[in-house]
Amino acid sequence: MRSNWRDCAAWHSEKLPMNTSSNEACKLYDVCLSQFTGYYEEKQFGGLANSLNQMINSDPNFILGHCLKNGIELLGTNSAFYSNTLSDNINNLIKTSELLSNEITQREKFHVKAIEYLHKGDLVESIKIWEDILIDHPTDMMAIRMLASGYFYTGNSIEMRDSIARVLPKWNTNTPLYNYLYGFYAFGLSQTKELEKAEKYARKGIELNHLDGWACHTIAHINEYRSTFNEGINFLLKTENDWQTCEFIRGHNYWHLCLFYLENQEYEKIIDILDNNPSFSKPQMTIDLVNSSSLLFRLKLDGFKDSGYLDTKFKELKNVFNDRLIQHGYIYSDSHMAMIYAMCGTDKEKKVYLDSLQDFISDTNFSKFIRKLNLKISGKLYEALFSYGEGNFSKTVDLLYPIRYDLFKIGGSNAQRDIFNLILIDACFRSESKRHNTIGQGLYFERLAQRENSSLTKRLGDRYFINEFYENL
Ligand SMILES: [Fe+2]
Repeated sequence: MRSNWRDCAAWHSEKLPMNTSSNEACKLYDVCLSQFTGYYEEKQFGGLANSLNQMINSDPNFILGHCLKNGIELLGTNSAFYSNTLSDNINNLIKTSELLSNEITQREKFHVKAIEYLHKGDLVESIKIWEDILIDHPTDMMAIRMLASGYFYTGNSIEMRDSIARVLPKWNTNTPLYNYLYGFYAFGLSQTKELEKAEKYARKGIELNHLDGWACHTIAHINEYRSTFNEGINFLLKTENDWQTCEFIRGHNYWHLCLFYLENQEYEKIIDILDNNPSFSKPQMTIDLVNSSSLLFRLKLDGFKDSGYLDTKFKELKNVFNDRLIQHGYIYSDSHMAMIYAMCGTDKEKKVYLDSLQDFISDTNFSKFIRKLNLKISGKLYEALFSYGEGNFSKTVDLLYPIRYDLFKIGGSNAQRDIFNLILIDACFRSESKRHNTIGQGLYFERLAQRENSSLTKRLGDRYFINEFYENL
């Protein structure tokens, strides 16, 4: 963990000057940036939320401090789009930057603009600005980290990978946070299926900092894509004490561990995590919601016998996150809310959910980008999930099959979006339509070709037509 927090002079010497003369604010900016980049809470400053507030209190006119705080909130949850407080904060930030226009740098102005676009859900424009910043300032970690999130939410893996490759050689190896670039680059490589190279970079990141939970997370992805599930279990258990220190990624690493357990049908280990791991038993963050709903749905798809347990867990999840019924935006997290309503929502809740989605799409306060994306994908995707929950599998196939190659645009990782492949295959097999059954066989073979050692995939096929298919060959 770090202790050498950078003051005003240090940031200046790195050619990253900021508009505050408060050394305390500058150091706290470093504290916050470090936590955001490393997915951990700096305990001596009371964690990320506290240090963000302390930073702003140290200098209320600190432009990049406000950009960092608002950006973190906007990248965290769809609820941010509906927060009046956040809206006021961003309007104040824009006004302050205009008032200080002659005193602040172009880099600071760009960051404000990126946040302004982000607030409207216009990730495409925010991404362009962060990329522009990095042309002249390749060591601006706030731009790098936010850009990585931007590419994650837009599903642009190649761009995510290349954005790090462009800046990595320009860093001095002694500069704080340098080590995290390896994990970021490795993750991009894992999403573009360059697994050998991804592993090399992830392991280098871990070698530089064994507490790098994101680099450890990338090793889990590599094992997932290679179908080396036992290797994944061994790695995560061996490094558990290290990535446990990263509050913002550890729950998700347990999710990866559960995916490996699911392959082996080690249900009791999954139930233990669901019941006793706070990220699952007391979910709070959006990532907790995503991990839990996706894991419960996968258990259901794998034919987990105790459906009463799954029902109870889905209902508990709905109760915690029910205020998000009318909050839309990024489809990646919203689709995991739709999974919850598909499993335990009332007809009224599902109607409110879909009606409020239409309101979001019609709301011109939001950017064309996010409204168009929702218009093209989310309505069909959420209705497909609801139909699945209602046992109308044929409707699920009709809605989901035509958009399956567009689903990368909703963001998230290949491993996370894999849930939609599983749902589609299962729905094809369960549909009364013979044509759907045949489509399902094709999708089953397609998935098996990608993951030759996946017992989960084989079980999915075995339950329906595959035995019959082979017998009739
Ligand atoms: Fe992941």
